[in-house]
Amino acid sequence: MGKMLKVGVIGVGGIAKAHFPGWTQSPIAEVAALADLVPDTLKRIGEAQGVKKLYAKPEDLIADKEIDIVDICTPNMYHAPLAIAALKAGKHVICEKPLAPAPADIKKMIAARDKSKKLLMTAQHFRFEGTSKALKAEIDNGALGNVYHARGWMLRRSGAPTKPGFIHKKHSGGGPCIDIGVHILDLTLWMMGNPKPVTVSGVTQDKLRRLPGAFSNWGGPIPKDWDVEEFAAAFVRFANGATLVLEVAWLLNHPKTHGEDMQMWLYGDKGGAHWPNNVLLTTNNKTKQHLDTQLQNADHGEAHAMECVAFAEAVAHGRPSPVPAEQSLDVITILDGLYRSAKAKREILL
Ligand SMILES: NC(=O)c1ccc[n+]([C@@H]2O[C@H](COP(=O)([O-])OP(=O)(O)OC[C@H]3O[C@@H](n4cnc5c(N)ncnc54)[C@H](O)[C@@H]3O)[C@@H](O)[C@H]2O)c1
Repeated sequence: MGKMLKVGVIGVGGIAKAHFPGWTQSPIAEVAALADLVPDTLKRIGEAQGVKKLYAKPEDLIADKEIDIVDICTPNMYHAPLAIAALKAGKHVICEKPLAPAPADIKKMIAARDKSKKLLMTAQHFRFEGTSKALKAEIDNGALGNVYHARGWMLRRSGAPTKPGFIHKKHSGGGPCIDIGVHILDLTLWMMGNPKPVTVSGVTQDKLRRLPGAFSNWGGPIPKDWDVEEFAAAFVRFANGATLVLEVAWLLNHPKTHGEDMQMWLYGDKGGAHWPNNVLLTTNNKTKQHLDTQLQNADHGEAHAMECVAFAEAVAHGRPSPVPAEQSLDVITILDGLYRSAKAKREILL
Protein backbone atom coordinates (compact mmCIF):
# COMPACT_ATOMS: atom_id res chain seq x y z
CA MET A 1 0.00 0.00 0.00
CA GLY A 2 1.19 3.53 -0.79
CA LYS A 3 1.47 6.38 1.67
CA MET A 4 -1.68 7.05 3.70
CA LEU A 5 -3.42 10.34 2.88
CA LYS A 6 -3.15 12.62 5.91
CA VAL A 7 -6.33 14.46 6.86
CA GLY A 8 -6.54 17.68 8.90
CA VAL A 9 -9.98 18.45 10.36
CA ILE A 10 -10.81 22.12 11.04
CA GLY A 11 -13.65 22.69 13.52
CA VAL A 12 -14.11 19.66 15.76
CA GLY A 13 -17.67 20.27 17.03
CA GLY A 14 -20.85 18.35 16.21
CA ILE A 15 -20.48 17.24 12.60
CA ALA A 16 -16.76 16.46 12.81
CA LYS A 17 -17.74 13.53 15.04
CA ALA A 18 -19.66 12.05 12.10
CA HIS A 19 -16.61 12.45 9.79
CA PHE A 20 -14.07 10.70 12.06
CA PRO A 21 -15.55 7.18 11.51
CA GLY A 22 -15.23 7.73 7.75
CA TRP A 23 -11.54 8.56 7.99
CA THR A 24 -11.10 5.54 10.26
CA GLN A 25 -12.93 3.26 7.82
CA SER A 26 -10.97 4.49 4.81
CA PRO A 27 -8.02 2.16 4.19
CA ILE A 28 -6.12 4.97 2.45
CA ALA A 29 -6.63 7.99 4.74
CA GLU A 30 -6.15 8.87 8.40
CA VAL A 31 -6.65 11.93 10.56
CA ALA A 32 -3.26 13.47 11.38
CA ALA A 33 -4.19 16.92 12.76
CA LEU A 34 -7.08 18.88 14.23
CA ALA A 35 -7.76 22.61 14.58
CA ASP A 36 -10.37 24.47 16.61
CA LEU A 37 -10.63 27.94 18.08
CA VAL A 38 -11.86 26.57 21.44
CA PRO A 39 -8.88 25.05 23.33
CA ASP A 40 -10.96 22.73 25.57
CA THR A 41 -12.84 21.28 22.60
CA LEU A 42 -9.58 20.77 20.72
CA LYS A 43 -7.92 19.00 23.65
CA ARG A 44 -10.96 16.80 24.40
CA ILE A 45 -11.47 15.70 20.80
CA GLY A 46 -7.72 15.26 20.27
CA GLU A 47 -7.63 12.85 23.21
CA ALA A 48 -10.78 11.03 22.12
CA GLN A 49 -9.48 10.58 18.56
CA GLY A 50 -5.87 9.88 19.55
CA VAL A 51 -4.62 12.78 17.40
CA LYS A 52 -1.44 14.45 18.64
CA LYS A 53 -1.11 17.45 16.29
CA LEU A 54 -3.55 20.03 17.65
CA TYR A 55 -3.63 23.53 16.16
CA ALA A 56 -5.24 26.51 17.90
CA LYS A 57 -5.12 28.39 14.59
CA PRO A 58 -6.57 26.79 11.44
CA GLU A 59 -3.95 28.55 9.29
CA ASP A 60 -1.23 26.51 11.04
CA LEU A 61 -2.98 23.26 10.12
CA ILE A 62 -3.32 24.50 6.54
CA ALA A 63 0.43 25.28 6.48
CA ASP A 64 1.31 21.79 7.77
CA LYS A 65 3.25 20.10 4.93
CA GLU A 66 2.20 16.62 6.09
CA ILE A 67 -1.51 17.29 5.43
CA ASP A 68 -2.99 16.18 2.07
CA ILE A 69 -6.73 16.68 2.75
CA VAL A 70 -8.36 19.47 4.73
CA ASP A 71 -11.81 18.60 6.10
CA ILE A 72 -13.71 21.81 6.97
CA CYS A 73 -16.37 21.39 9.69
CA THR A 74 -16.70 24.98 10.98
CA PRO A 75 -19.85 27.15 10.85
CA ASN A 76 -20.83 28.15 7.31
CA MET A 77 -19.35 31.65 7.04
CA TYR A 78 -15.80 30.34 7.61
CA HIS A 79 -15.95 27.67 4.88
CA ALA A 80 -14.90 29.87 1.95
CA PRO A 81 -11.85 31.60 3.49
CA LEU A 82 -10.56 28.34 4.96
CA ALA A 83 -11.18 26.32 1.79
CA ILE A 84 -9.53 28.95 -0.41
CA ALA A 85 -6.49 29.11 1.90
CA ALA A 86 -6.25 25.30 1.95
CA LEU A 87 -6.52 25.02 -1.86
CA LYS A 88 -3.87 27.74 -2.24
CA ALA A 89 -1.64 25.69 0.07
CA GLY A 90 -2.05 22.71 -2.28
CA LYS A 91 -4.50 20.67 -0.18
CA HIS A 92 -7.56 18.76 -1.36
CA VAL A 93 -10.67 20.05 0.42
CA ILE A 94 -13.84 18.37 1.62
CA CYS A 95 -16.11 21.02 3.10
CA GLU A 96 -19.34 20.77 5.06
CA LYS A 97 -22.52 22.04 3.47
CA PRO A 98 -23.14 24.69 2.31
CA LEU A 99 -19.81 25.34 0.56
CA ALA A 100 -20.67 28.96 1.32
CA PRO A 101 -24.00 30.79 1.78
CA ALA A 102 -23.24 33.27 -1.07
CA PRO A 103 -22.82 32.31 -4.75
CA ALA A 104 -19.94 34.80 -5.13
CA ASP A 105 -17.92 32.98 -2.46
CA ILE A 106 -18.49 29.59 -4.10
CA LYS A 107 -17.26 31.07 -7.40
CA LYS A 108 -14.05 32.14 -5.61
CA MET A 109 -13.69 28.62 -4.18
CA ILE A 110 -14.08 27.14 -7.67
CA ALA A 111 -11.46 29.55 -9.03
CA ALA A 112 -9.06 28.55 -6.23
CA ARG A 113 -9.75 24.87 -6.94
CA ASP A 114 -9.05 25.31 -10.65
CA LYS A 115 -5.82 27.19 -9.97
CA SER A 116 -4.60 24.57 -7.50
CA LYS A 117 -5.77 21.58 -9.60
CA LYS A 118 -6.86 19.91 -6.34
CA LEU A 119 -10.27 18.40 -5.53
CA LEU A 120 -13.08 20.30 -3.79
CA MET A 121 -16.10 18.36 -2.52
CA THR A 122 -19.24 19.43 -0.67
CA ALA A 123 -20.19 17.07 2.14
CA GLN A 124 -23.72 16.33 0.92
CA HIS A 125 -24.05 13.09 2.81
CA PHE A 126 -27.62 12.32 1.73
CA ARG A 127 -26.23 11.37 -1.70
CA PHE A 128 -24.40 8.53 0.09
CA GLU A 129 -27.51 6.97 1.70
CA GLY A 130 -28.36 3.53 0.30
CA THR A 131 -31.86 4.75 -0.62
CA SER A 132 -30.39 7.66 -2.60
CA LYS A 133 -27.87 5.52 -4.48
CA ALA A 134 -30.53 2.94 -5.42
CA LEU A 135 -32.99 5.55 -6.72
CA LYS A 136 -30.29 7.51 -8.56
CA ALA A 137 -29.19 4.30 -10.35
CA GLU A 138 -32.78 3.65 -11.50
CA ILE A 139 -33.18 7.23 -12.73
CA ASP A 140 -29.86 7.09 -14.58
CA ASN A 141 -31.13 3.89 -16.23
CA GLY A 142 -34.13 5.86 -17.51
CA ALA A 143 -36.81 4.51 -15.13
CA LEU A 144 -38.56 7.89 -14.88
CA GLY A 145 -37.86 9.13 -18.42
CA ASN A 146 -37.74 12.90 -18.55
CA VAL A 147 -38.28 14.29 -15.03
CA TYR A 148 -40.37 17.43 -15.53
CA HIS A 149 -41.49 18.20 -11.98
CA ALA A 150 -40.26 17.55 -8.45
CA ARG A 151 -41.30 18.34 -4.91
CA GLY A 152 -38.85 18.31 -2.03
CA TRP A 153 -39.31 19.24 1.59
CA MET A 154 -37.40 19.09 4.86
CA LEU A 155 -39.69 20.16 7.67
CA ARG A 156 -39.21 20.14 11.42
CA ARG A 157 -41.93 20.90 13.94
CA SER A 158 -39.76 22.35 16.72
CA GLY A 159 -36.34 21.57 15.34
CA ALA A 160 -34.23 24.70 15.28
CA PRO A 161 -30.55 24.27 16.14
CA THR A 162 -30.20 27.15 18.58
CA LYS A 163 -26.38 27.43 18.46
CA PRO A 164 -25.01 30.82 17.32
CA GLY A 165 -23.42 29.08 14.30
CA PHE A 166 -26.92 28.44 12.97
CA ILE A 167 -29.25 31.23 14.13
CA HIS A 168 -26.94 34.24 13.70
CA LYS A 169 -26.70 35.25 10.09
CA LYS A 170 -23.12 36.51 10.50
CA HIS A 171 -22.03 32.90 11.24
CA SER A 172 -24.56 30.85 9.25
CA GLY A 173 -25.52 33.05 6.29
CA GLY A 174 -29.19 32.04 6.70
CA GLY A 175 -31.73 29.85 8.50
CA PRO A 176 -33.28 26.51 7.47
CA CYS A 177 -32.76 27.32 3.76
CA ILE A 178 -29.01 27.34 4.24
CA ASP A 179 -28.93 24.64 6.93
CA ILE A 180 -31.33 21.93 5.70
CA GLY A 181 -32.62 23.40 2.42
CA VAL A 182 -29.21 22.59 0.94
CA HIS A 183 -29.73 18.91 1.80
CA ILE A 184 -33.10 18.34 0.15
CA LEU A 185 -32.37 20.74 -2.72
CA ASP A 186 -29.00 19.15 -3.52
CA LEU A 187 -30.54 15.67 -3.43
CA THR A 188 -33.52 16.65 -5.59
CA LEU A 189 -31.41 18.45 -8.20
CA TRP A 190 -29.05 15.46 -8.34
CA MET A 191 -31.99 13.08 -8.92
CA MET A 192 -33.31 15.44 -11.63
CA GLY A 193 -29.93 15.32 -13.41
CA ASN A 194 -28.83 18.77 -12.24
CA PRO A 195 -30.83 20.89 -14.71
CA LYS A 196 -29.82 24.56 -14.89
CA PRO A 197 -32.07 26.77 -12.69
CA VAL A 198 -33.35 29.91 -14.44
CA THR A 199 -35.96 31.53 -12.15
CA VAL A 200 -37.14 31.29 -8.56
CA SER A 201 -40.11 32.67 -6.68
CA GLY A 202 -39.78 32.36 -2.92
CA VAL A 203 -41.12 33.36 0.48
CA THR A 204 -39.63 33.27 3.96
CA GLN A 205 -41.55 33.38 7.23
CA ASP A 206 -40.65 34.27 10.78
CA LYS A 207 -43.70 33.70 13.00
CA LEU A 208 -43.59 30.81 15.52
CA ARG A 209 -40.26 31.75 17.12
CA ARG A 210 -41.80 35.07 18.23
CA LEU A 211 -44.63 33.43 20.21
CA PRO A 212 -44.31 33.41 24.04
CA GLY A 213 -42.58 30.26 25.29
CA ALA A 214 -41.35 29.23 21.81
CA PHE A 215 -38.95 26.29 22.11
CA SER A 216 -36.90 23.85 20.10
CA ASN A 217 -36.45 20.12 20.70
CA TRP A 218 -32.98 20.71 19.24
CA GLY A 219 -31.73 23.23 21.79
CA GLY A 220 -34.31 24.48 24.33
CA PRO A 221 -35.74 28.01 24.47
CA ILE A 222 -35.52 30.08 21.30
CA PRO A 223 -32.87 32.82 21.76
CA LYS A 224 -34.18 36.37 21.29
CA ASP A 225 -31.26 37.43 19.09
CA TRP A 226 -32.06 34.90 16.33
CA ASP A 227 -31.94 36.82 13.03
CA VAL A 228 -32.69 34.25 10.28
CA GLU A 229 -35.90 32.83 8.76
CA GLU A 230 -37.74 29.85 10.30
CA PHE A 231 -39.62 28.70 7.15
CA ALA A 232 -39.21 29.12 3.40
CA ALA A 233 -40.92 27.91 0.23
CA ALA A 234 -39.98 28.30 -3.41
CA PHE A 235 -41.02 27.52 -6.96
CA VAL A 236 -38.08 27.02 -9.35
CA ARG A 237 -38.01 26.83 -13.17
CA PHE A 238 -35.17 25.14 -15.06
CA ALA A 239 -33.74 25.71 -18.53
CA ASN A 240 -35.04 22.30 -19.67
CA GLY A 241 -38.64 23.24 -18.76
CA ALA A 242 -38.70 21.26 -15.51
CA THR A 243 -40.05 22.79 -12.28
CA LEU A 244 -39.55 22.23 -8.57
CA VAL A 245 -41.44 23.07 -5.38
CA LEU A 246 -39.31 23.34 -2.24
CA GLU A 247 -40.36 23.75 1.40
CA VAL A 248 -38.06 23.95 4.43
CA ALA A 249 -38.69 24.70 8.11
CA TRP A 250 -37.09 24.55 11.51
CA LEU A 251 -40.37 25.53 13.17
CA LEU A 252 -43.72 24.56 11.62
CA ASN A 253 -47.00 23.09 12.82
CA HIS A 254 -46.36 19.99 10.74
CA PRO A 255 -46.55 16.36 11.90
CA LYS A 256 -43.12 15.22 13.14
CA THR A 257 -42.58 16.23 16.72
CA HIS A 258 -39.08 14.78 16.93
CA GLY A 259 -36.74 14.47 14.00
CA GLU A 260 -37.77 15.79 10.63
CA ASP A 261 -40.02 15.06 7.66
CA MET A 262 -37.67 14.87 4.65
CA GLN A 263 -39.22 13.67 1.40
CA MET A 264 -39.02 14.03 -2.33
CA TRP A 265 -41.40 13.25 -5.20
CA LEU A 266 -40.08 13.09 -8.76
CA TYR A 267 -42.42 13.05 -11.75
CA GLY A 268 -41.24 11.92 -15.19
CA ASP A 269 -42.92 11.00 -18.47
CA LYS A 270 -42.14 7.29 -17.88
CA GLY A 271 -42.68 7.11 -14.14
CA GLY A 272 -42.74 8.81 -10.78
CA ALA A 273 -40.77 8.09 -7.64
CA HIS A 274 -40.80 8.81 -3.93
CA TRP A 275 -37.68 9.14 -1.78
CA PRO A 276 -36.86 7.83 0.80
CA ASN A 277 -39.60 5.17 0.40
CA ASN A 278 -38.06 4.35 -2.99
CA VAL A 279 -41.28 3.37 -4.69
CA LEU A 280 -41.45 3.70 -8.49
CA LEU A 281 -44.88 4.50 -9.96
CA THR A 282 -45.66 3.63 -13.57
CA THR A 283 -48.82 3.44 -15.66
CA ASN A 284 -49.48 0.83 -18.36
CA ASN A 285 -51.76 2.55 -20.87
CA LYS A 286 -52.44 -0.74 -22.74
CA THR A 287 -53.74 -2.61 -19.70
CA LYS A 288 -54.89 0.57 -17.94
CA GLN A 289 -53.02 -0.59 -14.84
CA HIS A 290 -50.88 1.19 -12.33
CA LEU A 291 -47.73 -0.48 -11.05
CA ASP A 292 -45.93 0.45 -7.83
CA THR A 293 -42.46 -1.12 -7.54
CA GLN A 294 -40.43 -1.17 -4.33
CA LEU A 295 -36.71 -0.68 -4.97
CA GLN A 296 -34.07 -2.61 -3.03
CA ASN A 297 -31.64 -0.30 -1.26
CA ALA A 298 -28.06 -0.27 -2.43
CA ASP A 299 -25.46 -1.68 -0.03
CA HIS A 300 -24.22 1.18 2.10
CA GLY A 301 -22.56 2.23 5.29
CA GLU A 302 -23.29 5.31 7.38
CA ALA A 303 -23.64 8.17 4.89
CA HIS A 304 -21.36 10.76 6.55
CA ALA A 305 -18.62 8.15 6.81
CA MET A 306 -19.19 7.03 3.22
CA GLU A 307 -18.73 10.56 1.86
CA CYS A 308 -15.28 10.76 3.50
CA VAL A 309 -14.35 7.31 2.18
CA ALA A 310 -15.48 8.36 -1.33
CA PHE A 311 -13.45 11.58 -1.19
CA ALA A 312 -10.27 9.75 -0.20
CA GLU A 313 -10.82 7.32 -3.11
CA ALA A 314 -11.29 10.20 -5.55
CA VAL A 315 -8.12 11.91 -4.33
CA ALA A 316 -6.07 8.71 -4.41
CA HIS A 317 -7.20 7.65 -7.88
CA GLY A 318 -7.37 11.09 -9.53
CA ARG A 319 -11.15 10.84 -10.03
CA PRO A 320 -13.56 13.81 -10.17
CA SER A 321 -14.99 15.21 -6.96
CA PRO A 322 -17.89 12.99 -5.78
CA VAL A 323 -19.95 16.17 -5.20
CA PRO A 324 -18.76 18.88 -7.62
CA ALA A 325 -18.70 22.48 -6.43
CA GLU A 326 -20.55 23.60 -9.58
CA GLN A 327 -23.62 21.64 -8.42
CA SER A 328 -23.39 23.26 -4.98
CA LEU A 329 -23.19 26.64 -6.70
CA ASP A 330 -26.55 25.94 -8.37
CA VAL A 331 -28.05 24.98 -4.99
CA ILE A 332 -26.90 28.23 -3.38
CA THR A 333 -27.85 30.29 -6.45
CA ILE A 334 -31.43 29.03 -6.02
CA LEU A 335 -31.48 29.72 -2.26
CA ASP A 336 -29.90 33.14 -2.70
CA GLY A 337 -32.57 33.82 -5.35
CA LEU A 338 -35.24 32.60 -2.92
CA TYR A 339 -34.12 35.20 -0.37
CA ARG A 340 -33.98 37.93 -3.02
CA SER A 341 -37.41 36.95 -4.35
CA ALA A 342 -38.89 36.94 -0.83
CA LYS A 343 -37.56 40.45 -0.30
CA ALA A 344 -38.68 41.75 -3.71
CA LYS A 345 -42.03 39.85 -3.53
CA ARG A 346 -41.66 38.66 -7.14
CA GLU A 347 -40.05 35.97 -9.30
CA ILE A 348 -36.27 36.44 -9.78
CA LEU A 349 -34.17 35.63 -12.83
CA LEU A 350 -31.10 33.63 -11.74
N1 LIG B 1 -24.12 17.20 6.97
C1 LIG B 1 -24.80 17.27 8.09
O1 LIG B 1 -25.62 16.43 8.39
C2 LIG B 1 -24.50 18.39 9.04
C3 LIG B 1 -25.04 18.37 10.32
C4 LIG B 1 -24.70 19.41 11.19
C5 LIG B 1 -23.88 20.45 10.77
N2 LIG B 1 -23.40 20.44 9.50
C6 LIG B 1 -22.52 21.53 9.03
O2 LIG B 1 -21.30 21.43 9.74
C7 LIG B 1 -20.79 22.73 10.04
C8 LIG B 1 -20.53 22.84 11.52
O3 LIG B 1 -21.72 22.55 12.23
P1 LIG B 1 -21.63 21.87 13.68
O4 LIG B 1 -23.01 21.45 14.03
O5 LIG B 1 -20.54 20.88 13.74
O6 LIG B 1 -21.25 23.17 14.53
P2 LIG B 1 -20.55 23.20 15.98
O7 LIG B 1 -20.79 24.57 16.48
O8 LIG B 1 -20.98 22.02 16.79
O9 LIG B 1 -18.99 22.99 15.67
C9 LIG B 1 -18.23 23.92 14.96
C10 LIG B 1 -16.82 23.91 15.53
O10 LIG B 1 -16.02 24.78 14.73
C11 LIG B 1 -15.20 25.56 15.60
N3 LIG B 1 -14.85 26.77 14.85
C12 LIG B 1 -15.61 27.84 14.59
N4 LIG B 1 -14.94 28.70 13.78
C13 LIG B 1 -13.73 28.15 13.56
C14 LIG B 1 -12.60 28.56 12.80
N5 LIG B 1 -12.58 29.71 12.11
N6 LIG B 1 -11.53 27.76 12.81
C15 LIG B 1 -11.50 26.60 13.50
N7 LIG B 1 -12.56 26.16 14.23
C16 LIG B 1 -13.66 26.93 14.25
C17 LIG B 1 -16.04 25.79 16.83
O11 LIG B 1 -15.24 26.10 17.96
C18 LIG B 1 -16.74 24.42 16.97
O12 LIG B 1 -16.00 23.52 17.76
C19 LIG B 1 -21.82 23.72 9.50
O13 LIG B 1 -21.40 24.18 8.25
C20 LIG B 1 -23.09 22.90 9.33
O14 LIG B 1 -23.90 23.34 8.27
C21 LIG B 1 -23.67 19.43 8.65
